[in-house]
Amino acid sequence: MHPTARLAVRSSGFRAAAGTARLSRFQPSTLPRVVVRFSSSGSNPQYEFIQVTEPRPGVGQITLNRPKALNALSTPLITELNTALLTFQSTPSIRAILLTGSQKAFAAGADIKEMAPLTFSSAYLNSFIESWSNLTTTLKKPLIAAVSGHALGGGCELALMADMIYCTKTANFGQPEIKLGTIPGAGGSQRLTRAVGKAKAMELILTGKSFSGEEAEQWGVAARAFGSYEELMEESLKTAETIAGYSKVAVQAAKEVVNKSQELGLRDGVEFERRVFHALFGSEDQKEGMGAFGEKRKAQWKDQ
Ligand code: CAA
Repeated sequence: MHPTARLAVRSSGFRAAAGTARLSRFQPSTLPRVVVRFSSSGSNPQYEFIQVTEPRPGVGQITLNRPKALNALSTPLITELNTALLTFQSTPSIRAILLTGSQKAFAAGADIKEMAPLTFSSAYLNSFIESWSNLTTTLKKPLIAAVSGHALGGGCELALMADMIYCTKTANFGQPEIKLGTIPGAGGSQRLTRAVGKAKAMELILTGKSFSGEEAEQWGVAARAFGSYEELMEESLKTAETIAGYSKVAVQAAKEVVNKSQELGLRDGVEFERRVFHALFGSEDQKEGMGAFGEKRKAQWKDQ
């Protein structure tokens, strides 16, 4: 377990704070000016709606923390989430990320009170909800969503943006937007349909009916469903830690090729996979992994 980690990100120069030599590979970019502290205790004074921790070696955890509104996804919450994800993406010691909510609610959807007064022109001109997609476009590190309780509307869509979903059997997934006179707006009609097929997605989206975590697992929405909240969190952390223990180069490549399968036809997808597979023969970690197998020892990854 890593002790409290402190890092300071500066938009000009990116100087790591004292005691954080492992942050030296920050990429100079357009990262926001933000000071982030994440600790095993979960106190992050600069965040109001999320908690950021490092519960296991190499694992960063973001916990949605707006309990009175069942983690409704307001714009300020999403802004904090994006900042935390970007910071984890830029922190070399973080190798896998866990996104979770509370036992009662992963997230009960986009914030209805924020959306209620929106007009077409304000939503359109301000690209309302577009920033949610940062999660899928900028995050190269693997993201596991651990879902307990409600994952409705935008909450379901947020979970579907993760690389894999673990949930409790009693989790409450659904796209109830139709009941509010609207439709899914953060990718639900696309990602849920890819996950469960057109017939089921159409039924779920047109009726607004919920489905359980047990069904999510049976239908391939969730990778695994667990009998209790405690088991969910323990198994999610274990999986994140397992992934964090592999070569970063191979993990990023694996995520990239699986995600491409959602966009390319089979022939192009297989071709893309083969190109990336060939490229990995140029990595030191491929030599190390296969060499260690031959020498019957544990591989020492260099992330090169
Ligand atoms: N937005 C804003 N506030 C919400 C919310 C949401 N999506 N979901 C719950 N809350 C708030 C409630 O207003 C309530 O606050 P107050 O105490 O101030 O009234 C608090 O959270 C607790 O909620 P309930 O009292 O309703 O709790 P419950 O246990 O009786 O019911 C629930 C739980 C079934 C999840 C119910 O809260 C509910 O139906 N929520 C809305 C779910 C929904 O429709 N989500 C889709 C939103 S639209 C969307 O997400 C669009 C998109 O695609 C991006």
